[in-house]
Amino acid sequence: MDDGIVRDGIKPGDVVVVTGAGGGFGRAFCNRFGRAGAKVAAWEINPQAGAETVAQVKAAGGEAQFFQVDLSDASQIAKAVEQTLAAFGAPYVIINNASIYPRATVIDMKVEDWERTLKVNITAPFLIVRAFGPHMLKQKRGLVINIASGRGVEGAPRGANYAASKAAILSLTKTLALEWAPHNVRVNAIIPGVSMTAQPLENTTPEELLARGKKEIPLGRVGYPDDMAGLAAFMASSDAAYMTGQAVAMNGGRVLVP
Ligand SMILES: NC(=O)c1ccc[n+]([C@@H]2O[C@H](COP(=O)([O-])OP(=O)(O)OC[C@H]3O[C@@H](n4cnc5c(N)ncnc54)[C@H](O)[C@@H]3O)[C@@H](O)[C@H]2O)c1
Repeated sequence: MDDGIVRDGIKPGDVVVVTGAGGGFGRAFCNRFGRAGAKVAAWEINPQAGAETVAQVKAAGGEAQFFQVDLSDASQIAKAVEQTLAAFGAPYVIINNASIYPRATVIDMKVEDWERTLKVNITAPFLIVRAFGPHMLKQKRGLVINIASGRGVEGAPRGANYAASKAAILSLTKTLALEWAPHNVRVNAIIPGVSMTAQPLENTTPEELLARGKKEIPLGRVGYPDDMAGLAAFMASSDAAYMTGQAVAMNGGRVLVP
């Protein structure tokens, strides 16, 4: 670059915190950043899934540690923050990726399902960025990537809880980007399209999902975890140093109606 601007991006040895690290996208984020030389803090409720992710990162020569945490519990989040800081130091990237999606109509939804969904999907990201924030702001470099959903824009029949949480994380992305821009900590969101992971398969079969991708997605297929990991890697790179407060759809060309 010959414009004299210093563009910061992720460097080997930087710390990446990934929530829901045992799932489809979460594991791909861990593997992608692990291969690039990051220290990966794999946060996950399911110990087998978290351990498998860490094993994959290590098998490829990367560095990773599993932190067991139930994101619906504020005290467990506080503990995982302390453990991560003690093990690795302040993160360069936080990926708020974990979510749950208990399905029911508004009339039938249990209040407990509404409340747990909001706790895991939006209160946890809020608590996590608050806890790590002072450490990141002090470094004057860093990035938060919030994983949203088209449902947060379009709504979701039998998923008012999930849709509300995803609209909220888009909003949190905007506010946090404005609050942290003066400190050179960027905040962006990814809006994945329907993808081949466990979450949509709670509600359909792999065959139906593939057929839906062929029929409904302009590029003719569903998304895959590596599609999202590629975008996250770009967001963390110096090429995205001027990008903050943005929500980027990675969805094969579906038009999201606001
Ligand atoms: N897959 C899709 O089609 C799709 C589409 C749009 C958005 N998304 C979003 O992408 C993100 C990742 O989704 P995915 O498809 O990989 O889901 P997934 O279900 O495969 O993985 C989610 C992971 O989060 C973990 N988790 C759940 N509750 C937790 C808790 N209380 N504490 C800690 N960890 C917990 C799960 O154990 C799992 O490993 C989510 O935010 C999801 O809403 C997915």
